[in-house]
Amino acid sequence: MNEAERLERRIEQGDAHVGTLGLGYVGLPLSVEFAHAGLHVTGFDLSQDKVAALCRGESYIQDIPSQRVASLVRTGRLRATTDFSALSECDAVVICVPTPLGKTKDPDLSMVVDASKAIAARLRPGQLVVLESTTYPGTTEELILPLLEERGYKVGESFFLAFSPERVDPGNPRFGTRNTPKIIGGVTAACTRVARALYEKAVDTVIPVSSTRTAELVKLLENTFRSVNIGLVNEVALMCDRLGVDVWEVIDAAATKPFGFMPFYPGPGLGGHCIPIDPLYLSWKLKTLNYRARFIELAGEINSAMPEYVCSRVSDALNEREKSVKGSRVLVLGVAYKRDVDDVRESPALDILNLLHSRGARVSYNDPYVPSVQLNDLGLHSVELMAGVRDADVVLIVTDHGGYRYPDIVEAARLVVDTRNATKGIVSEKILKL
Ligand SMILES: NC(=O)c1ccc[n+]([C@@H]2O[C@H](COP(=O)([O-])OP(=O)(O)OC[C@H]3O[C@@H](n4cnc5c(N)ncnc54)[C@H](O)[C@@H]3O)[C@@H](O)[C@H]2O)c1
Repeated sequence: MNEAERLERRIEQGDAHVGTLGLGYVGLPLSVEFAHAGLHVTGFDLSQDKVAALCRGESYIQDIPSQRVASLVRTGRLRATTDFSALSECDAVVICVPTPLGKTKDPDLSMVVDASKAIAARLRPGQLVVLESTTYPGTTEELILPLLEERGYKVGESFFLAFSPERVDPGNPRFGTRNTPKIIGGVTAACTRVARALYEKAVDTVIPVSSTRTAELVKLLENTFRSVNIGLVNEVALMCDRLGVDVWEVIDAAATKPFGFMPFYPGPGLGGHCIPIDPLYLSWKLKTLNYRARFIELAGEINSAMPEYVCSRVSDALNEREKSVKGSRVLVLGVAYKRDVDDVRESPALDILNLLHSRGARVSYNDPYVPSVQLNDLGLHSVELMAGVRDADVVLIVTDHGGYRYPDIVEAARLVVDTRNATKGIVSEKILKL
């Protein structure tokens, strides 16, 4: 029996020990799913706080109930540690660390490199390593493989390496780790086979592709598709403003076509850890190959100008009422980057608050999921909703959280600027839409 067959058998019999490096929005749900499937899971993170919370059986990710973590910790299926020496005990190690952009908007793979080095230092025959972090095509084979091969082991024979992009959609009640199909691409056919065996334990549908590069590009296509389509529809919103047409009505009417059209909606700008960032990983890689990714650049330009456009709508609305932005009280509703989540990473609401504050507006916000935010030079706490609405010169709807009761908000407000069509169906002179 060779190493691949031995590892596959351990996985199939439920004896495999899985390590997850990085216990955030991606790593924790995955760890829980593997543990729930009956595998022994050790989660590794640099954060003492996260590890301590998990050891107490507490979850810090909204979609994962503490109860679920607690029962897995109690039965010994899931443990967490900051001590990376236990990596050598793992049969499979999955890397789920952040892949942000650096100051110059280039990929920052320093955490992937650190995680890979930690694994490489303890690599032993028979181990599978999978990268889940979103990255540019070529990362797994150009960056991680050489680090792992430094020990002299041969990929596909003594150890196995694959890429499998995470598709988690925080706050989505319908699709979670188990029922979202999973793409897998290995460095060799044996790598794909072993990785497939692992994921089939925890995910209903696993889709192998021919290479790690293909798997890396699948993720970037998915997110570039969203960024470009949102860019297109944001530009249509700007066109509609000039044409005097309601963009929301146009989209809803177009969406009645049963084929060949998929609705995307305009908004105050892109947010979250994926859509604003991932396409730039692709365009960066293409730049090194002397190719300009024009759709990505254009969509990025349009989407990143939306916060400025929203501020100009607020300014116009105040101007109509003979008021200036300077000195006006603006209440932003929702600062999380999307509905019903507590994540403010890259949220356009922060850009909007910064822009309005820098123009002299007296800004405040309400968000049932986010108790406080830090702006460039101002810290804010979420204010009580209806008192804030009554107090504001303008209520600016940025994130359409499910709990907001818009008829009451519009009734109590002096003026509402709605970037999400959240007030659909409410007829009032006070409402100005994107
Ligand atoms: N959040 C999402 O919705 C989502 C969806 C799909 C893909 N992704 C991708 O998944 C990756 C992880 O994203 P996330 O949202 O889970 O990030 P996160 O910031 O929530 O979690 C990452 C964790 O990794 C830890 N970490 C950093 N360096 C480490 C190291 N060297 N060793 C061990 N732990 C380390 C951090 O302390 C943190 O707890 C990124 O590449 C992201 O683009 C995220």
